[in-house]
Amino acid sequence: MKALVVDRYRKKGALRFGDMPEPELRDNDVLVEIHAAGVNPLDSKIRDGEFKLILPYRLPLILGNEVAGVVVRVGSRVRRFKPGQEIYARPDKARIGTFAEFIAMNEADVAMKPKTLSMEEAASIPLVGLTAWQGLVERANLEKGQRVLIHAGSGGVGTFAIQLAKHLGATVATTTSTANVDLVKSLGADIVIDYKKEDFEKVLSGYDVVLNSLGKDTLEKSLSVLKAGGKLISISGPPDAEFARDIGASWFLQQVMRLLSFGIRKKAKRDGVSYSFLFMRANGEQLSKITSLVESGVIRPVVDRVFPFEATQEALRYIETGRSKGRVVVRVK
Ligand SMILES: NC(=O)c1ccc[n+]([C@@H]2O[C@H](COP(=O)([O-])OP(=O)(O)OC[C@H]3O[C@@H](n4cnc5c(N)ncnc54)[C@H](OP(=O)(O)O)[C@@H]3O)[C@@H](O)[C@H]2O)c1
Repeated sequence: MKALVVDRYRKKGALRFGDMPEPELRDNDVLVEIHAAGVNPLDSKIRDGEFKLILPYRLPLILGNEVAGVVVRVGSRVRRFKPGQEIYARPDKARIGTFAEFIAMNEADVAMKPKTLSMEEAASIPLVGLTAWQGLVERANLEKGQRVLIHAGSGGVGTFAIQLAKHLGATVATTTSTANVDLVKSLGADIVIDYKKEDFEKVLSGYDVVLNSLGKDTLEKSLSVLKAGGKLISISGPPDAEFARDIGASWFLQQVMRLLSFGIRKKAKRDGVSYSFLFMRANGEQLSKITSLVESGVIRPVVDRVFPFEATQEALRYIETGRSKGRVVVRVK
């Protein structure tokens, strides 16, 4: 089958668009014919070798972390799916490879695709949707009446997280540039900080939760936005020891991650707030709940551009500009 392959890790390195064997189907797996795949900053980071220690893949590796498609075959122990069904998923981090014609995934990681969406729209949801869900629902326990700051509201995670936070009943502040102010307002943001004109840390205070997806500077400034007992949750690092333990990292790696987050944890403690790093994980059950929210019109996908499969590397270069609005997707079939 045709696939986009990493032969060796290299910063901005070229990928090979070549032939790879079809994936092997395990007892609990569904084999999916891929129609569309979401493109994420994670794909670029994996290609560059930034995740070598955390995600020790065997090369050659088929890249791609999000999929929408049709089930073509199921393993002997699969109960929830059958051939012909339209599904979507973020495959387990150990079994990625959605820039290809087929992928095999454990049924536990898969959910029915929202009926109201095209394949391209559906492929834009699983990774960012689960990230927002695990950050705001699972980690933050965000509740009605609370206040949350979602950084980079016009990005892939931001466009979903704003809508989910509004659905949960929170007051939502977000940061974006002038060009995207109308977009984030249309998604429901209550307070929009145009970072070209204002400093968010001078405007906002007394917040319950901050979801950070930007760099160190933004992360540290976010501390002052929180009230005592507030939660700073970062998806862009630095990783902490809990995360290292969750992924079964060695004792040595646990210490490295503890050190990497030492500074921000210390500052958070000083301010009476908590810091934690979130690395989202595959979860078909949570994704099914997201399907319901999409089908009932609570959350809509924001797709910036759709590229043909052959142009996946161009799609990666586009997201690497850091200026995409919502999601970028490749059409595989
Ligand atoms: N840990 C996890 O589980 C996890 C999961 C998903 C993503 N991530 C990470 O989270 C980060 C964001 O992912 P993403 O998919 O949302 O990225 P993205 O879609 O590529 O983000 C692009 C958006 O970021 C905005 N942006 C850039 N600089 C900004 C700034 N200083 N202030 C406010 N907005 C800014 C841009 O808006 P403007 O053009 O208006 O600046 C643009 O719309 C990435 O580093 C990704 O790897 C982590």
